[in-house]
Amino acid sequence: MMRDATRTGVVLTDIRKSFGSLEVIHGIDLKITEGSFVVFVGPSGCGKSTLLRMIAGLEEVTDGEIEIKGRAVTDLDPSDRGIAMVFQSYALYPHMSVRDNLAFGLKMARTPEAEIEARVRAASAILKIDPLLDRRPGQLSGGQRQRVAIGRAIVRKPDVFLFDEPLSNLDAELRVSMRIEIARLHRELGNTMIYVTHDQTEAMTLADVIVVLRDGRIEQTGSPREVYENPANVFVAGFIGSPRMNLLAARWAGDGSVQVGAVRVPVSPEIGKPSGDKITLGIRPEHLLVSSAGEGMLQAKVDFSEYLGGTQFLYCQTDDGQSIIAEHRSPVPVDAGDTVHFSWDSAQLRLFDSAGIRIHGSQR
Ligand SMILES: Nc1ncnc2c1ncn2[C@@H]1O[C@H](COP(=O)(O)OP(=O)(O)OP(=O)(O)O)[C@@H](O)[C@H]1O
Ligand SMILES: [Mg+2]
Repeated sequence: MMRDATRTGVVLTDIRKSFGSLEVIHGIDLKITEGSFVVFVGPSGCGKSTLLRMIAGLEEVTDGEIEIKGRAVTDLDPSDRGIAMVFQSYALYPHMSVRDNLAFGLKMARTPEAEIEARVRAASAILKIDPLLDRRPGQLSGGQRQRVAIGRAIVRKPDVFLFDEPLSNLDAELRVSMRIEIARLHRELGNTMIYVTHDQTEAMTLADVIVVLRDGRIEQTGSPREVYENPANVFVAGFIGSPRMNLLAARWAGDGSVQVGAVRVPVSPEIGKPSGDKITLGIRPEHLLVSSAGEGMLQAKVDFSEYLGGTQFLYCQTDDGQSIIAEHRSPVPVDAGDTVHFSWDSAQLRLFDSAGIRIHGSQR
């Protein structure tokens, strides 16, 4: 789908939120292109739900401005913002049929009967819930309930869909199929969607743009590929990816190399000298290749090995006592207790300075 980057779906300008005297959101600036799928990720308590609820109007902002489709909405009621929110808990009315659950918001807004009917029919066709319209929520499975909750958002024809961990109550298999349905929904409707999740796969597969939050601040905004391949700092490097990027304490050794324990590791010649000598070397588990011993290789002892069928995760300790995880795809198994040597493509190394910021040049 072509998106016009000049058309903004949602703009947040210096958003702050305090609960009592405690500030939990510390000045968030974010421009979301109309029609894009944006995913908020970050550790528990970093402010994802609070930010979403402020966009929805369910929580007042302490400071800052919110715009939706070019309209200032900061002081508007949730019902006047052109948004619809889907919660983790579904929040369906238990005593109403599915049909009435879908129609309820429209009835309250005094939408004409024929229009309500048309919208309910269209939404249930998209979500394939027509056979369920006369049941009550208690007579539905978790996945069906979540579909009704999404249907209730669709009938409102919002400009922006807001999702707060909508799939986290579902079992693993249902999560995968609902994830694909949400992706399809986005493709069909083309609305701006903002989605909060703890699930790395959901974030990577659904997002056009991932926003990584920590303690009420944005650490990085970028496409899934950008945040995965070129994390802005050690926090993002350690948060995105499962297992996360290996982060090894190292020292700048000059002449295009860094020292990790007793090993001198050549790095890209484009990398300029960082301000401090202490640096962090980042490398993803899939870029560590088990090799026969050689110059400039990390030697490590395997503590645990996890066999997952197509791949094997090796939990190791380097010679200088640092933890490292490698993804091993060779048919030749590696077992706990083995000593291994790792080689890598130096283009895959990421270096971070003593403040944890990625050093320019340590990227493709
Ligand atoms: N009503 C409230 N009163 C006081 N503090 C609150 C309130 N709601 C949230 N907070 C605090 O604000 C911070 C952000 O909470 P929020 O619910 O937005 O986090 P989150 O990123 O959604 O976390 P999770 O991943 O656990 O859902 C937390 O420190 C939380 O304790
Ligand atoms: Mg939350």
